[in-house]
Amino acid sequence: MSSLPGEWEGHLQRGLDHLESAHLLRHTRKSDEMSACFGSNDYLGLAQRRTAAATTSSFRCPERRGSILVSGYSAAHEDLEEKILELKSLAGCPGACAVLFPSGFAANLSVGMALCSVHAGQNPSQRIHVYSDELNHASIIDGIRFAKAMKGSRNNLFLHVYKHNDVKDLERQLQNASGSDTGSLSVVFSESVFSMDGDICDLRGIAQLKQDHKFLLVLDEAHATLVMGDRGGGVAQALGLSHEVDLAVGTLSKAVGSFGGFAVARSGLLRSILLNKGRPVIYSTALPSALVREALTNIDIGMGEQGSAMREKLRKNVRFLTKALAERGFICGEGGRKEAQLMSPIIPVAMPSEQFALRTSSHLWEKHGIFVPAIRPPTVPTSRLRIAVLATHSLKELLLLADALTETRSAVNEHARL
Ligand SMILES: Cc1ncc(COP(=O)(O)O)c(C=O)c1O
Repeated sequence: MSSLPGEWEGHLQRGLDHLESAHLLRHTRKSDEMSACFGSNDYLGLAQRRTAAATTSSFRCPERRGSILVSGYSAAHEDLEEKILELKSLAGCPGACAVLFPSGFAANLSVGMALCSVHAGQNPSQRIHVYSDELNHASIIDGIRFAKAMKGSRNNLFLHVYKHNDVKDLERQLQNASGSDTGSLSVVFSESVFSMDGDICDLRGIAQLKQDHKFLLVLDEAHATLVMGDRGGGVAQALGLSHEVDLAVGTLSKAVGSFGGFAVARSGLLRSILLNKGRPVIYSTALPSALVREALTNIDIGMGEQGSAMREKLRKNVRFLTKALAERGFICGEGGRKEAQLMSPIIPVAMPSEQFALRTSSHLWEKHGIFVPAIRPPTVPTSRLRIAVLATHSLKELLLLADALTETRSAVNEHARL
């Protein structure tokens, strides 16, 4: 049996034992055979289509392996950047631009590193105040952390974590910090659809604050892209507030059904700083053209009539499942109770403990063949099941889930009583 050098083995094992005893240990689980899956972000079912662009033999694309700055940028990449501008209703707007990243995670890391640290040539004593929602995604948090770790930024970056979706708290913090620090820069980070709660950012409230506080707004639309907005452009588009977002981040790996990440800016300066100071995009291989073509095809579908019909079906499914769960006494997130344009496909079902969440997820899987992930700390403050509704789910599958959850709740409660 191989062993790790020095004290590593015992050190790692103790960490794992601790997680195990707190019911926080994670395992991989093969998910090939299941009767229904509620753990995928392929909201419109587009990843389940094999697009002609990715598979036809007549399709010839120069498949180069290099970063986007070396050899990885092709006509296909440029076309996709243009298509994303169209999706965001920014095509033809002066200065508007997009950048592709190897993933949405890499996009957020790059944005954090590029915007939140002070680079050579910039004022070395420039102070930057960074405001981040307390439930922002790990990639946003890590982007800020990476920036803080960069040379010259340790004493320049001031992080202010505001209460979840609480514009009043954000305003208070803006006033206290940036308001009394003349010459400093400010940037606010938020998700538009929060990935684990499914609730929608108060973009109207944040946009209003921009009038008095001159901050850069970075909005991560990972879970809203192709899901919200008339053409699938996201929450900002749905609310008619695209012009308030300085930098929108997104992923091609969820509803777009391909792979990769992107950022869209209203100023070419932001594209340049990302390409020059965003280390994850500089030092990673660019997206393969086949995936880029697949994203292009799927965004086209998503922006058109077919996409609108898929979004309508998705909303119908969310409404149906939320109602079915409420009728069975489950406490869910705001999902199906929102106005149509802002209806989130992520439905969290609150669980009383980590152990209860795990047991519920396992029982659903083992007894009913239904996959719903249990999400536990530190990903979220309180354990829950995270149901991701797709446009491709049938009403029968949704009912199956609601009934299976009801049976599972009784079984897990019964087990707890024994
Ligand atoms: C809000 C948010 N941002 C970014 C990402 C990262 O996207 P990707 O999966 O493309 O790396 C995710 C993925 O879970 C996410 O939920």
